[in-house]
Amino acid sequence: MNLSITKTDRLKARPKDTELGFGTVFTDHMFNMDYNPDKGWHNPRIEPYQPIHMEPSTMVLHYGQAIFEGLKAFRTPENQIQLFRPRDNFKRLNLSARTMCIPEFDEELALEGLKQLIRLEKDWVPKALGTSLYIRPTIIATDPFLGVRASHTYRFFIILSPVGAYYAEGFNPVKIWVTKDHVRAVRGGVGFVKTAGNYAASLFAGEEAHKNGYTQVLWLDGVELKYIEEVGSMNIFFVIGNELVTPALNGSILSGITRDSVIAMAKKQNMPVNERRISIEELFDAHAAGTLQEAFGSGTAAVISPVGLIKYDKKVIEIGDGKVGPIANRFFKDLTDIQYGKVDAPKGWIEKITV
Ligand code: COI
Repeated sequence: MNLSITKTDRLKARPKDTELGFGTVFTDHMFNMDYNPDKGWHNPRIEPYQPIHMEPSTMVLHYGQAIFEGLKAFRTPENQIQLFRPRDNFKRLNLSARTMCIPEFDEELALEGLKQLIRLEKDWVPKALGTSLYIRPTIIATDPFLGVRASHTYRFFIILSPVGAYYAEGFNPVKIWVTKDHVRAVRGGVGFVKTAGNYAASLFAGEEAHKNGYTQVLWLDGVELKYIEEVGSMNIFFVIGNELVTPALNGSILSGITRDSVIAMAKKQNMPVNERRISIEELFDAHAAGTLQEAFGSGTAAVISPVGLIKYDKKVIEIGDGKVGPIANRFFKDLTDIQYGKVDAPKGWIEKITV
């Protein structure tokens, strides 16, 4: 790959691992690449992290043609750096691209660009357990134009951010608010891909949850407001009668890579897994019958996020006495052990970066 590298002459001060929150600090450099109909994707380059200059008429600002990914790089006990399932993220970014009428890119080239960027930014990969380098590949529409159509030009960029826990609660149970007034996505829409508008659509209900003292929203399906879909910006799992249950991918649920990893780990441990429809009534009935053992969200940013309390209408249920359950605990440990290189990973999950 013909990748040009322009280094900054002003390196930033790096925060200590203990000071890391989520998504506030960015490294010194970024990867960029442009698209136009004549050249296709071209000019892959690493440059200093910098603002993107654009006209106020730039299409992404008006019609939301923006897609992104979230993945992480980890530092192993041997001080090596490794990526968790990066090929799956770039594959999903191309699915988002197809869905949002954005031209597809070469996944191997993007991965190579990312590796080069991380090599340059290796000192930014934090060491402490629970910290990592969060990676945000993004594509935005860049035509200056006010009519509604797909843009003809695009920018692909990757930025890096050293992070700690996503939620202030860390790996502690969060309180969940089931919204009956709002939906995140509908089948036939774009809920199954990672496009900016899905997150914008989630904000109003999220604010409502926060005002009421809850951390996240549990989303029900957009047609009947009956079946559980996702939690906040994560997929959701339940342990009901010793079986791991998660909503089946139905066209409006994001196909989470952490979701897929949890399912694969459960199957390997011979735990029964059931991807199916699950209604909110069934969940509350299972709680009443004493068979709802655990609930937890899964996502790249938050990893595994145990759920301690769910409020639906006037009913509130507490799960596992509001404590972290053994199964959420085990998945958190098993997954992070793989990510931090403490145990061997299933084939294809880890991409080591030689620096
Ligand atoms: C992730 O889990 O990486 C996400 O993309 C969710 C959120 C930070 C937008």
